[in-house]
Amino acid sequence: MTTSPATDDGVAPPHSAAPPAQPWSELRLTLGEAADAAALVSWCVREYEDTEAPEFLVDATVIAHDLPKSIRTFIARARLDERPHALVLRGNLVDDELLGATPAHWRSALTPGSRPSSFLLALYACLFGDLFGWATQQDGRVVTDVLPIQGVEHSLVSSSSRQELGWHIEDAFSPYRADYVGLFSLRNPDRVATTLAGVPLDELDERTLDLLFQDRFLIRPDDSHLPVNNSTAQRGSPKFEEIARAVDHPDAVPILTGHRAAPQLRIDGDFSAPADGDEEAGAALETLRKRIDAALYEVVLDAGDVAFIDNRRVVHGRRAFQPRYDGRDRWLKRANITRDLYRSREVRASGDSRILGQR
Ligand SMILES: [Fe+2]
Repeated sequence: MTTSPATDDGVAPPHSAAPPAQPWSELRLTLGEAADAAALVSWCVREYEDTEAPEFLVDATVIAHDLPKSIRTFIARARLDERPHALVLRGNLVDDELLGATPAHWRSALTPGSRPSSFLLALYACLFGDLFGWATQQDGRVVTDVLPIQGVEHSLVSSSSRQELGWHIEDAFSPYRADYVGLFSLRNPDRVATTLAGVPLDELDERTLDLLFQDRFLIRPDDSHLPVNNSTAQRGSPKFEEIARAVDHPDAVPILTGHRAAPQLRIDGDFSAPADGDEEAGAALETLRKRIDAALYEVVLDAGDVAFIDNRRVVHGRRAFQPRYDGRDRWLKRANITRDLYRSREVRASGDSRILGQR
């Protein structure tokens, strides 16, 4: 879907019923809109320590009311639109010099130069729902970092590089997974592509669809939730016990749920399997894999582009690339967003806690 023409007040008219020319929806910010958003962020930078501060996370929803109207309208209109796989806001300001070098590890990525981008991602996220993080991922941060890390080039986590990051629904193993995944591209000099695909409904026969709607599949946590991918000090924590249980004894779940003609999708290409000995389910899963492989397409997020992927029905991944390790590597800020934080209350310590798995 291309950007709709703007009206006099800078607000795009409602989407027409015409089929989308591309499966995502874009808003290219004017320089004035980008500057207004940046000014709001500068205020946040002065007022709050960082995006992890509980005071900021409480206030962010109201602060986001002061974002440019065109941005708020674009996101508000998309909330009930099932056609775009993602919303992409292009043309946000990123001062490359101020940003500084791409860190060597996510642990050292809470840099002063990247604070403005984290705040902006968080404010946009608040127009979709509530931000949250995982106690078992990147030491329990709400805004996390995607950058290549030396030594894990061929791993199955987002800090891989030489190996393609296989398509997945973010945290498909969990009933509390995000409704949207936000990605803010701070730097992407080699134009490494993000991959996306929706449910290939037209390519699935009735029998395969029937099977995918049944509790016959095991979806395990991806490796980013393992103690080895968190800081050493965190590794003995009981919060990893629930992850270990989900790895060893996953419940059988359906891959598709909801409306037959517009289902929700729950799958991770690398961490999904049929229930033990279930050959029918195995065949259905294989068929779906092939169809998603065939449907996968690329979106390049350049510096200043923010994408919100609909994690309820769209898988994402990333093409393989050659890491540089020279301070100029691809770097994105990432955020999980839920439309209803209360849904995960049983795995959060308090009503206003944003961290899942920290009871
Ligand atoms: Fe992901």
